[in-house]
Amino acid sequence: MNASEPRHPFLQGLSKHRGAPPTVVVIFGASGDLTARKLVPAIFNLGIDNLLPGDFHLIGFGRKPIEDEKFRSLLDEAIGEFSRRPLDGEVWGRVRRHISYQSGGYDELAAFKVMAEKIDALERELGRDLQRVFYISTPPSVFEPVIQNLGKSGLADKHQGTKLGSKVIIEKPFGHDLESARHLNATLQSVFSEPQIYRIDHYLGKETVQDLLVQRFANSIFEPMWNRQHVESVQITVAEELGVGSRGGYYDQSGALRDMIQNHTMQLVALTAMEPPVSLDPESIRDEKVKVLKAIQPLNPDPEKGDVVRARYADGLFQGAKVPGYLEEAGIPADSSTETYAALKLSINNWRWKGVPFYIRSGKRMARRASEIAVQFRRPPGILFSEGSKYDVAPNTMVISIQPDEGVTLVLNSKVPGLETRTQPVKMHFRYATTYGSNTPEAYERLILDAIVGDSTLFIRGDETEASWRLCTPLLEDWNKRGNEGLASYAAGSWGPPEAERLLAENGHLWRRAGP
Ligand code: NDP
Ligand code: BG6
Repeated sequence: MNASEPRHPFLQGLSKHRGAPPTVVVIFGASGDLTARKLVPAIFNLGIDNLLPGDFHLIGFGRKPIEDEKFRSLLDEAIGEFSRRPLDGEVWGRVRRHISYQSGGYDELAAFKVMAEKIDALERELGRDLQRVFYISTPPSVFEPVIQNLGKSGLADKHQGTKLGSKVIIEKPFGHDLESARHLNATLQSVFSEPQIYRIDHYLGKETVQDLLVQRFANSIFEPMWNRQHVESVQITVAEELGVGSRGGYYDQSGALRDMIQNHTMQLVALTAMEPPVSLDPESIRDEKVKVLKAIQPLNPDPEKGDVVRARYADGLFQGAKVPGYLEEAGIPADSSTETYAALKLSINNWRWKGVPFYIRSGKRMARRASEIAVQFRRPPGILFSEGSKYDVAPNTMVISIQPDEGVTLVLNSKVPGLETRTQPVKMHFRYATTYGSNTPEAYERLILDAIVGDSTLFIRGDETEASWRLCTPLLEDWNKRGNEGLASYAAGSWGPPEAERLLAENGHLWRRAGP
């Protein structure tokens, strides 16, 4: 690379606004929860940081008729309620005046043609072309009609082959099994080319998830040990304190495997286990992720002896207060067999990881909100401090804490001061908040900006999502047949069902108490 070439966007972090072309973002489903809670606060914060393109326009689209000014005031409220920084009238005022709303059906081609004319007119008025970024933030039932109408109306093709070619960002869930994911990929790829497609997994936008690559590949002490010779096991936990809340209707059709494991947790597995990419360009990273996902062995679904435990929360105590069980939550049918917790033991059949179990779990209403990756290294030979002694040394463990209390902890052994030689595990901490301050950008800020500037590194490629569904779909089919058979139970506010220990027991491992 010569000095005049731009650095790769991943390396530039968030300072890449100079590359942001004039853009109009169209949000489908703009009256919804995600727009209010995440998308608009993210756009506002990008504005505060002067990262939006100089020419930035936002159009909301939805079935409900909403006046432009009413829409803008709904967004003001959303920022007031959900932004990490308070509403700044001056900055927001500059963005706000370029916001409008258009109503129409998602399956109504005429409405998309009106949208196309509206943007053409805007370009004529500005005297310049605009990149179109379409953000599909509707329920998944209408993803396909939106995509097809973007194609039929000509919106998808506009400025194709130039720097201002259209892009589409699509929310999760990306299909509900392998077949539907393939179908959705086929629909997307019939209208857009793969480089125009940005499949969201907001975990990839989290600072700590990006830091995983830096920890692995920018530090020479870890990578030589990151393999079966030195690593005994890996545990990945994505635990939530919250129950299903008001999302019962959606969640009961989904469950922990579809909602959290297939996407967020498998992405953490892929980033932890992948080989070093040849460069930081999106395709090199995604190639390595796909390879490792494909190397994971098919899972045995047997509830007694297999590689998986699924469970549902019963009522329990959370922070001293009684909370209801899943079946008592609003919108959950009495005969539901949906899991709110899933734990899997993965075997990665490749040169680096053969024989190293990857234990992963995710659940709602667990004891603590804690997402972490814990890499447990093999113990030293028990000659000096273990063998023949009543004291044993603990394994070294590197814990990457994704959230909350973001950081990295290294568990080492040290000598306890005193006249006898006694070892004790001690922790070395790096905490983001202490080193960098606590007001880090939200995942959606990073992801929206990346899509605008055309960096797809932190988005999921079509074959990645299919590789992950290929693993999960046989489990879903098995659970569908079994119904409640084999569905374990755990008390709300606990660390999950006791049955999950079975997955680790044969190797003499235990689940960690995740979190600080
Ligand atoms: P909403 O349920 O709030 O729906 C968004 C908008 O879509 C609604 O305002 C409504 O607008 C329209 N809509 C609702 N139901 C239907 C329907 N049955 N048919 C057609 N249109 C409908 O969704 P969210 O904003 O919560 O989520 C949007 C997307 O983001 C989903 O794919 C979701 O899975 C994903 N997501 C959401 C998260 C969240 O925290 N909310 C987190 C992660 C992902 P109108 O009536 O005006 O057309
Ligand atoms: C979403 C799931 O994708 O991720 C939710 O649909 C879950 O059920 C959420 O609560 C968790 O995200 P975060 O960023 O709060 O860990």
